[in-house]
Amino acid sequence: MEILDLRHFSSVDLRPLLEDETQVWARLLSWDYSGSADMILRYVDGKILPGYAAIERGRIFGYAFFVYEGSKGVIGDLFVANGSRNPNAPEIETRLLTHVIETLQQSPGVHRIEAQLLVHETGVVARPFLEQGFQRHPRLFMSTPLNRPARPSPSLHADVEIRPWSDQDYQAAAAAITAAYRGHVDSQINDQYRTLSGSLRFLNNIVRFPGCGLFDAGSSFVAVHKNSRTVVGLILCSRVRHDVGHVTQVCVLPEHRCRGIGEALLAASAGNLRQRSFSLLSLTVTEANLRAVELYKQLGFTTNRVFDAFVWEG
Ligand SMILES: CC(C)(COP(=O)(O)OP(=O)(O)OC[C@H]1O[C@@H](n2cnc3c(N)ncnc32)[C@H](O)[C@@H]1OP(=O)(O)O)[C@@H](O)C(=O)NCCC(=O)NCCS
Repeated sequence: MEILDLRHFSSVDLRPLLEDETQVWARLLSWDYSGSADMILRYVDGKILPGYAAIERGRIFGYAFFVYEGSKGVIGDLFVANGSRNPNAPEIETRLLTHVIETLQQSPGVHRIEAQLLVHETGVVARPFLEQGFQRHPRLFMSTPLNRPARPSPSLHADVEIRPWSDQDYQAAAAAITAAYRGHVDSQINDQYRTLSGSLRFLNNIVRFPGCGLFDAGSSFVAVHKNSRTVVGLILCSRVRHDVGHVTQVCVLPEHRCRGIGEALLAASAGNLRQRSFSLLSLTVTEANLRAVELYKQLGFTTNRVFDAFVWEG
C-alpha cells in the first residue's frame, strides 16, 4: 500500500470510493453526501484539493483531504473503503491522518488545525491526533423523527418574538453568535465563534456554500427582543437529504436563557419542516455541553452516534 498526493489523481479514480462513502453517510447519518462528493470531485479534477490517497494495485481505497482557511487547517474528510469490515482500515486511516497532520503542522503560517470526523466512532481514529498533541472533544449526532405530533410549544414572554430568518439578519446574528459562545466549549472547537468577523465567516459558509447541506431559509428563525429590536437568539437549518433537516446553529444570548427561547426556536424549525413533510431533524452537540444535550433530550432527540472533534494549536 502506498500513500500518494491526491493531486496525482482525477475524479475517475476517486469516484468509486466516494460512491461507497455516500452510502455510508446515508446509512449512518440519513445524510445525502452526493452534493459534497460532487464538489470534492470537481476540486480533485482541478488539482487543487490538498490531501492523500491510499493506493493498492493502482486503485484508491482510502483518502483524506484538508483545506487552508487563513492560518488554520481544517481536515475535511477521511474515508477508507469497507472501513468497518476491512481489518486493515485502522492502519490505513492512521497513515493517512499522520500524513495530513504532518503536512499541516509543517505548513508555514498554520497555527491551528481542526477536524470533525462524523462517520468515525469516538476514539477509533484518535491515536494519531492525540500523539501530535490534539485536544479531543466527543460530540453527539442526535436526531428526532418529525412524523409524530409536536409537544406543545412553550409560551414565550411577550417581549420576545420568533420570526423567519432574512438576509438582513447577518450582522445581528453574527453578533449574537459571538456573545453566545464566549467562554463556551464550542469556541475551543471552532475558533470562528470567538470574533465577529469569524462568526460572519461561519454564517457565510453555512448560508451561501453547500458544505453542510443546503441552507434552508424556511426552517431558520431569529428570536427578536421587541422593544430593543435586538436579535437575542437564532436557529439555522440546512437540508441534508430531500426530507431531512439539520440544525447547523442554535444559540440564545446568555442574559435571555432559561426563558424557553431555545425550545421555541427548535419548535419553530421542527414545525416548519413537519408542515413540509420532512421526516427527520438532526443536529450535532458537544457531549460536555450538558445544558444543550438536556434540552435536546427533552425535545425527543436521541443519540445516533458519538464522534470526535480534534483541535491542535501550535
Ligand atoms: C442551548 C441553548 C440554546 C438553550 O437556550 P435556552 O433559551 O436557555 O433554552 P430554554 O430556556 O428553552 O431551556 C429549555 C431547557 O434547556 C435546559 N436548560 C436550560 N437552562 C439550563 C440550565 N441552567 N441547566 C440545565 N439545563 C438547562 C433545560 O432542560 C430546560 O428545560 P426546562 O426549562 O423545562 O428545565 C442556550 O443555552 C445557548 O445558547 N447556549 C450556548 C450555545 C449552545 O450551546 N448552543 C447549542 C449548540 S449545539
